[in-house]
Amino acid sequence: MRRIITYGTYDLLHYGHIRLLQRAREMGDYLIVALSTDEFNAGKGKKAYHPYEERKAMLEAIRYVDLVIPETCWEQKRTDILRYQADALVMGDDWQGKFDDLKDICEVIYLPRTDGISTTQIKSDLAKLGRKD
Ligand code: CTP
Repeated sequence: MRRIITYGTYDLLHYGHIRLLQRAREMGDYLIVALSTDEFNAGKGKKAYHPYEERKAMLEAIRYVDLVIPETCWEQKRTDILRYQADALVMGDDWQGKFDDLKDICEVIYLPRTDGISTTQIKSDLAKLGRKD
């Protein structure tokens, strides 16, 4: 059983998220998503549209996702990887190189992001539409 772990906020779930999760899952047999909590995001100055429990429920409904756990701080990755016996940490390449220090305990893989879509982009496009009404 090869276990994969990934981290993110997954707000306003979109096609880029699904593609990331699909590719991450295909790299193993079991995919764990560590989902940023609202408190963790607040500390980064971010506020998700969907609260944690809603984002969690949506991720759990995706066939590529086997387990959702909370991400509450930057430092938990090493502990999570050991606790959940993850063989690989998979992240989008917006994080390229950022987690290479974990290569002593697992593989660290950065996947290309899907072009042309992000939560930030969706929010900004919808805001522009709203202004036209
Ligand atoms: N991701 C991706 N392709 C995209 C958008 C996101 O592969 N077009 C990946 C990210 O690299 C990350 C995961 O999806 O590994 C979760 O990303 P997240 O930051 O929650 O989503 P974004 O859409 O990037 O959100 P934001 O605009 O708020 O940064």
